[in-house]
Amino acid sequence: MAKITLSIIKADIGSIGGHIKPSQKLLETVSNYIKEKGRGLIIDSYIGHTGDDIAILTTHKKGPSNPKIHKLCWDAFLAGTKIAKSQGLYGAGQDLLVSAFSGNVKGMGPQVAEMEIEERPAEPFLMFMADKTEPGAFNLPLYLAFTDPMHNAGLILSPKVKEGFKFVIMDVSYTKVDKIIELKAPEEIYDIAALLRDTGRFVVESIFSRASGEQVVSASTTRLHNIAGKYVGKDDPVMLVRTQKDFPATGEILSPYTITPLVAGFMRGSHNSPLMPVKKNTSISFFDGPAIVSCLAFCEKEGKLTESADTFDHPYWDYVREQAAQETQELRRQGFFGAAMLPMSELEYTGVMETLKELEKRFKIRKGR
Ligand code: F6R
Ligand code: MG
Ligand code: MG
Repeated sequence: MAKITLSIIKADIGSIGGHIKPSQKLLETVSNYIKEKGRGLIIDSYIGHTGDDIAILTTHKKGPSNPKIHKLCWDAFLAGTKIAKSQGLYGAGQDLLVSAFSGNVKGMGPQVAEMEIEERPAEPFLMFMADKTEPGAFNLPLYLAFTDPMHNAGLILSPKVKEGFKFVIMDVSYTKVDKIIELKAPEEIYDIAALLRDTGRFVVESIFSRASGEQVVSASTTRLHNIAGKYVGKDDPVMLVRTQKDFPATGEILSPYTITPLVAGFMRGSHNSPLMPVKKNTSISFFDGPAIVSCLAFCEKEGKLTESADTFDHPYWDYVREQAAQETQELRRQGFFGAAMLPMSELEYTGVMETLKELEKRFKIRKGR
């Protein structure tokens, strides 16, 4: 069986009219660059956007973290940035945090999700892209799809799925090197939940089948906030999920997105927002949001991709989107107050901090009591 690597590398390198969507010319530039310069290196590719982020999906035989693959995508983003600048796009090159490429785009700004697979006779998989949110946004949907029979009927109906899954969870507050823990579902689901509730700190990095040991999920974990130490936007994550047979079915993976959980992001990366499942190439709008997630389904054979099937382009999800819009409206009614805005430690702008510093000087200790 062929060993194939699936790689998603994603960055925001400029946008029309604010942080809304890339221009057609920008998308074409990135796409053409990958097609031309990737010849002989990659097998196939798909380039698309969700909100202001451009994701490059490639298939190849080089394994994860390959410098040539990473450089190809980095250089495609550099070529795109040139066009973004020439068009006067907003935030041109914003996610390319360093000036020189050094072997691996991880930690340089772009989001990365990769996995090497032993190809099955049929290889269905999903490509998730989210915008105006952070990697922890996938925590709840993954937890539910891989541990809860209320979403994953396979946990009851399929003996292989019932054997459970191994979660690899990263503590993203630790930025020097990767700090991870492995936990087994179902035995340790309460420990998994205890970590995954804290979306700003603990993020699912990967999930493995316990029946076969095969990798099922690879999710991006980069938090630019931690790397850059200043506002660079939330980290708009990407994720790969293999489906069917001994893994959860595509519909089981999608099922939790019906909940539209509140996630961090939205306006100025500093608010809570329902996570709205959207169609491919959706742009950003109301209050720079709400947080959105798209999901494209593919099959591949020896690295050759089919066309994508747009999983959230279906009447069922129109209904969910309407509900998410209603929830968004409810939350936005309270503006900056309480749960609508993120706690101090998660604010992506320094305005509140600076105000507090100024006001601190005016606070007085009342005498006499
Ligand atoms: C959030 C986001 C936007 C911007 C906002 C202000 O991730 O990208 O909500 O934070 O539009 O953008 P600047 O500071 O670039 O004017
Ligand atoms: Mg942006
Ligand atoms: Mg974005």
